Amino acid sequence: MSSVPAQHQRVLSGMRPTGLLHLGHYHGVLKNWVNLQHEFECFFFVADWHALTTHYEDPRIIGESTQDMVIDWLAAGVSPGAAKIFVQSRVPEHAELHLLLSMITPLGWLERVPTYKDQQAELKEKDLATYGFLGYPLLQSADILVYKAGQVPVGEDQVAHVELTREVARRFNHIYGREPGFEEKAEAAIAKMGKKNAKLYRDLRRRYTEQGDGQALDVAQALLESQQNISLGDRERLFGYLEGSGKIILPEPQALLTPASKMPGLDGRKMSKSYRNTISLREDPDEVAKKLRTMPTDTNRVRRTDPGDPARCPVWQLHEVYSDDSTKEWVQQGCKSAGIGCVDCKQPVIDAVVAELKPIRERAREYTEDPSAVKAIIDEGCEAARDVAKDTLEEVRKAMGLSQR
Ligand code: TRP
Ligand code: SF4
Repeated sequence: MSSVPAQHQRVLSGMRPTGLLHLGHYHGVLKNWVNLQHEFECFFFVADWHALTTHYEDPRIIGESTQDMVIDWLAAGVSPGAAKIFVQSRVPEHAELHLLLSMITPLGWLERVPTYKDQQAELKEKDLATYGFLGYPLLQSADILVYKAGQVPVGEDQVAHVELTREVARRFNHIYGREPGFEEKAEAAIAKMGKKNAKLYRDLRRRYTEQGDGQALDVAQALLESQQNISLGDRERLFGYLEGSGKIILPEPQALLTPASKMPGLDGRKMSKSYRNTISLREDPDEVAKKLRTMPTDTNRVRRTDPGDPARCPVWQLHEVYSDDSTKEWVQQGCKSAGIGCVDCKQPVIDAVVAELKPIRERAREYTEDPSAVKAIIDEGCEAARDVAKDTLEEVRKAMGLSQR
């Protein structure tokens, strides 16, 4: 349960800079970000510290990829007017919150996160028995909580990290959301809403706490969100009071599960840099054509006259992404009857990929030729992000008894 109604929620997501982006990123992540940016207040950032946890021995790629990755985002349609685009290491509040959260995070919670052991096993050539790598998901929690983000678009593999974030936030609020005279302060805050709303709040709270009425909780949260004349502190108290806890300083985020990308790579497996089966977002048309023409097809179709079966062919998976029904029908018929050759069959896919990449390549070229514009976008994003992050840190420090600056 989130403590902020959907329409006011911030969306936050990050990506590690470890090389050029490809069509898998576009179909799996970026198109989703582009859609979200018009609906929510969005924060998208380059997770360069996260990249360091695994690439600490050869960090050059991180610095080199940062600007390029932002260019790919912009080229794919992420708009600096609609979303804040920034770099993690330029908002030091992420690190400070990470440190502060580390004080209350039990080691076992981090050791139990599935990616911890999985990744160590997968990247055996690297020594990931480090403090930084163990803390990877907690740094991610800090990324999310420092913006009080409500929704975090991530793939399946990252859901456990959002789950950890929720637990850490809950623990934080439980320990530091208590204040002397909480109930009295909450009651005083209720009174400030005016007679009618105060009564409504009390009724809804009773329905939730006494009867577990989740709908009443939703309505009460919406009511709080619509209150113009209560302070931030009072709002946090009233959100917390609703659920029977202390103040909710760090709201629990929700994972917004990105459907697994259907984008197959050139060999039919998932498109991924480590499989070397990618088409990058900057690939030129000749290279696209070459890669697709040399793509393997149904291995039973040795000669042009042998009938084939699209179900056994990675090219078919690309038709599933790119082709309309009549083209797909043409492929099915033509392949099974040996009526078309594989070269014919691939042409509509080549055309579709080239057409899809055309505007992306053009925009990427414009930005590549104007690095200062990109820098300005990042500078502005960093500044806007810091404004929000600083406010959260003020509150967090205060709640933890650290003197204010
Ligand atoms: N760990 C994420 C990944 O590998 C990247 C990331 C870092 C992230 N911080 C985040 C994603 C915060 C969402 C929210 O993809
Ligand atoms: Fe694959 Fe098309 Fe060749 Fe059939 S005709 S094997 S679907 S490339």
